[in-house]
Amino acid sequence: MGFEKTTKTIVIGGTSGIGRAVAELLSARPGEVVVASRSNGLDISDEDQVNEFFKRQGLFDHLVVTAGSRAPSGKLVGLNLNSARSAFDTKFWGSVNAVHAAASNIRPGGTITLTSGFLARRTVPGTFVKTAMNAALEATAKILARELAPLRVNVVSPGLTETEAYSGMEATARSQMLQNAAASLPAGRVAQPHDLAAGYLFAIDTPSVTGAVIDIEGGALVA
Ligand SMILES: NC(=O)c1ccc[n+]([C@@H]2O[C@H](COP(=O)([O-])OP(=O)(O)OC[C@H]3O[C@@H](n4cnc5c(N)ncnc54)[C@H](OP(=O)(O)O)[C@@H]3O)[C@@H](O)[C@H]2O)c1
Repeated sequence: MGFEKTTKTIVIGGTSGIGRAVAELLSARPGEVVVASRSNGLDISDEDQVNEFFKRQGLFDHLVVTAGSRAPSGKLVGLNLNSARSAFDTKFWGSVNAVHAAASNIRPGGTITLTSGFLARRTVPGTFVKTAMNAALEATAKILARELAPLRVNVVSPGLTETEAYSGMEATARSQMLQNAAASLPAGRVAQPHDLAAGYLFAIDTPSVTGAVIDIEGGALVA
């Protein structure tokens, strides 16, 4: 379904990184784009806040969720389980909170696009939190594609993408990490937020795509 001036898209996580790039691309189209995150008053891990937020938004067309890039790494034995639960509360339960509150407000022809990550299907010791929550999201999205049909539900699965998620790293270490990753990826480069945004627009725009996981990871899954 094409975008019209009444088309409304909500991007939770749209204030930074991949979500902001999605919001920027959508802003060039007719219609309204609403971005939400903690910095403008919505904590997706808080079910009451999420319910209130969607009640205020009313009917809309497309939901994109990119919120929550933080997760602890390290082997399970020795991991702080509270930080693992907190990552799940934001990314996994937050996405579930959003779909739970929003699905009945999405107009016919609408879509939901969630976000996982390449570790969902890659076995790397020390990454169990990311692996588990991203795998759970991919599995949930496939169920939702059946339960909410004909509304379409998809997941974009990023690989390493150069966003603010890495802004806490020391500059030299960050640049070295990005260079090493680019050298090891079949695509020979680290993805930029707009590379990922193209995947969300593909999910939104392509009427036969539902229950799909769209991998944009520079070939990390075949490396
Ligand atoms: N970048 C990568 O290399 C990479 C790789 C694999 C998967 N991913 C996934 O891609 C998604 C986007 O990542 P990114 O790199 O774009 O991250 P980012 O630049 O850190 O952006 C994350 C966004 O989520 C929002 N957010 C965080 N906690 C939230 C909460 N509790 N409630 C509402 N909003 C919240 C942040 O805004 P506030 O701080 O204002 O809340 C921000 O807008 C994440 O799901 C991440 O796991 C990224």
